[in-house]
Amino acid sequence: MYRTQLIKQHQQRLLKIKSFSTTNRNLKFSEIPLAPPDKILGITEAYINDSNPKKINLGVGAYRDNSGKPIIFPSVKKAEEILLKKETEKEYTPIIGSKNFQSIVKNFIFNNSNKDSNGKQLIDDGRIVTSQTISGTGSLRVIADFLNRFYTNKKILVPKPTWANHVAVFNDAGLKPEFYNYYETSVNDLDFNNLKKSLESQPDGSIVLLHACCHNPTGMDLTNEQWDEVLQIIQDKKFFPLVDMAYQGFASGKPYQDIELIRKLTKLANENKIPTFALCQSFAKNMGLYGERTGSISIITPSKEESKAIESQLKKLIRPIYSSPPIHGSKIVEVIFDEQTGLLQEWLSDLDKVVGRLNDVRQKLYDNLDKSNYNWDHLLKQRGMFVYTGLKPEQVKKLRDDYSVYATDDGRFSISGINDNNVEYLANAINEVIQG
Ligand SMILES: Cc1ncc(COP(=O)(O)O)c(C=O)c1O
Repeated sequence: MYRTQLIKQHQQRLLKIKSFSTTNRNLKFSEIPLAPPDKILGITEAYINDSNPKKINLGVGAYRDNSGKPIIFPSVKKAEEILLKKETEKEYTPIIGSKNFQSIVKNFIFNNSNKDSNGKQLIDDGRIVTSQTISGTGSLRVIADFLNRFYTNKKILVPKPTWANHVAVFNDAGLKPEFYNYYETSVNDLDFNNLKKSLESQPDGSIVLLHACCHNPTGMDLTNEQWDEVLQIIQDKKFFPLVDMAYQGFASGKPYQDIELIRKLTKLANENKIPTFALCQSFAKNMGLYGERTGSISIITPSKEESKAIESQLKKLIRPIYSSPPIHGSKIVEVIFDEQTGLLQEWLSDLDKVVGRLNDVRQKLYDNLDKSNYNWDHLLKQRGMFVYTGLKPEQVKKLRDDYSVYATDDGRFSISGINDNNVEYLANAINEVIQG
C-alpha cells in the first residue's frame, strides 16, 4: 500500500513538471521556429558530404596554401614557442585588454612604422581609446552596442553589398542598418556616382560603415581621390564614420600601405573636420589568428577628457557580456611586436607571401578563363581574399551541381580555395557554365 502511494506521488510530481514545461507562458519551446543555417557554413557542410575527388570549396574566407591546407604563420608558431617557455600564468587580462596590447594596436594602425604624424598626434593627445575585443565581429558588436547606448541617430548606412554579418550584428544591437549604393552588378564595377548620391540623400548625423580595404564581398575599393570625395560628404552631412578593417595587408601585402583611409581620417580628426570616428580591427586574417578571436575597437574622441568617460563606458558595456577577452591571441601579437624577438619582420614577410599566393592564383584564374564572350577584367581590379565573379545564382548552382564547385549564391569565390592543382578545372567549369 505504502509503495503504491509512493509511486502515485512520484507520477503526480512528474506530471506537474511536464505540465509546467509545456504550459510555461514565458517560454514555449514547441513554438520556437527553426533558424535558417548560416549560408557560408552550410556550403562547407555540403562540400564535406560531396564524394567527388575534384570538389572545390570557395565558400569560406580563410587562407589555404597551394596544397589546399590551412596554415599557421611560421612567425606565429615561433611566438607560441616563446610563450610556451616564458608564460608563467593564465590570469585574466583587464576588461579592455592589456595596456601593452592596446598600445601595440594603436601604433600599428594609427602610427604605422612611426610614419604617421597625425595618428601620433592623436595618440599623444589621448584622443584614441582602444580595447581588445573578441576579434572583428566582437569589435563590431561592442561599437554597435556602444552607439546604440550613446548615439541618438540609430541609422547605420552600409554598402550594398556588404559582409552579411554586418547587418545581423547591427540589427541585433538595436541599430537600423540601411544600404547605400556601392556596386553595379551589370557592369561588375563600383557605382561611384550612385554611391555619392545615395549618401548625400541620407539624413545628417547618420552612422556610415566604410570598409578600410579589400571590400567584402566585391574586392573593389575606392581610390584615394574617391575617398576624398566621400570624406567631404561625411563632413557635410556630419556622419559618424565606422571603419571595418578585417583585411589590413591583403590589398598590397603590406599592412602600412593599406591604411590610406585611416591616414586621411586621422588628419581630418586633427583638423577637427571629422572629430570622431571608430575603427574595428582584426588579426584573424592578417596574422591567421582566426579561432584565437583577437581584434580591437578604437574610438577617436574629441579630447583626452572625453576619452576617460568613453573608456569607462566601454568597460561597463563589456564586463556583463564576456568580462574580459581571451589572452592567447593577444599574447601572440605582443610577442610578435616585441622588438627583442625580431619576429615583426618575419610576420610581415609571412603575410606578404600569403597575399602573393592569392594574387598569383587570381592571375592564373584570369589567364585560364575564356574572355571571348565574358569580360573578366574586373577580376584583376579586385583585391583581397575574394573574387566577385558576377555569376548569377543559377550559374553558381550549376557549378555546385555539375562540377562540385562550392561558392556563395552571390558569386563570391574565396580564392584561397584555388591552387595550382585545381585552377584549370575551375576555369573550365566556369567557362562551360557561362556558355550555358
Ligand atoms: C568585412 C569583415 N568584417 C569583419 C569580419 C570579422 O572577422 P573576425 O570576427 O573573424 O575577426 C569579417 C570576417 O570574415 C569580414 O569579412
